[in-house]
Amino acid sequence: MSIDRFADYLEAKRSADERARDIATFETFLGIVRAIPRPSVLDVGTGTGAMARSVADSLVGKEVEITGIDTATENLTVARSKAAEAGYESLRFECRSVFEIDARRYSTITAKSFVDEFPPRRLLRAFAGHLAPGGIIYTSLTYNGRTEFWPRAADHDYEQMMLAEYDRSMDERTFEGTPVAGSRGAGRFLDEAERCGFEIVRFGGADWCIQPEDGSYLEGDSTVLYGMVDFIASEAKRRPQCDPERTKAWRSNRRKQIETAKLRLLVHHLDAIVRITPEARRILSEPG
Ligand SMILES: C[S@@+](CC[C@H](N)C(=O)[O-])C[C@H]1O[C@@H](n2cnc3c(N)ncnc32)[C@H](O)[C@@H]1O
Repeated sequence: MSIDRFADYLEAKRSADERARDIATFETFLGIVRAIPRPSVLDVGTGTGAMARSVADSLVGKEVEITGIDTATENLTVARSKAAEAGYESLRFECRSVFEIDARRYSTITAKSFVDEFPPRRLLRAFAGHLAPGGIIYTSLTYNGRTEFWPRAADHDYEQMMLAEYDRSMDERTFEGTPVAGSRGAGRFLDEAERCGFEIVRFGGADWCIQPEDGSYLEGDSTVLYGMVDFIASEAKRRPQCDPERTKAWRSNRRKQIETAKLRLLVHHLDAIVRITPEARRILSEPG
């Protein structure tokens, strides 16, 4: 099995994402949004709109405007058709980058599986541009540097090296010449938010724990596992430290374990809420 469209992978991981969600952080987020008279939510990097739909589901009966933005038109096509199929009238999707700031100001930003891909300060500055005074940012499912598989691989040391290279590849990425938050994205984003004067409202662990239940995987989970094994193997193919034959054998063994519902996966993420303050706006208006 291979994943033809990134949008299919995003939809497949929806169930694992929702099971991983830190409930206390999500409830705090909903409590804050419910207390705002007419909240407006900007879901950045919305992909297929999973978070936008989840927020709409959780705020039924509340007057709320939810706008999902993304730069990938193929993801937005899926987001629009999923929202139309299920009758979500409060959702709007726009093709634009998080770095394009217009005149609208939102009470709330949501960013799921997103912030690790950008330099934290650049992103915080963009978020500040979109936010109304006192607004909050709910970042969820942000990778925080730990991926583990069970059962233990036959070539355990090699697998450890591949996983370290996989994380390193995220840390080597840059966005317009500046390093992105990368494999410890959640922690680095919180560090920078704190340094820039944001209030840290709360955070919690949101780990993917993917495993067979009664001999088979829950919906979407095998697609996520195939996706993860393939992402790690593809990265290894680009790394001179990795041996193509050992990578091929690793991928083939791990895929057999998915076929027979034996593979288990842990991926460590964080969910967090931060609030903008006047001090944060002052710090972010300075160069640097
Ligand atoms: C890892 S996906 C997460 C999608 C979705 N939030 C989810 O969790 O299912 C990251 C998304 O960010 C989008 N993206 C990348 N750069 C962006 C930018 N500058 N502005 C807005 N979206 C962007 C990608 O197209 C992709 O859909």
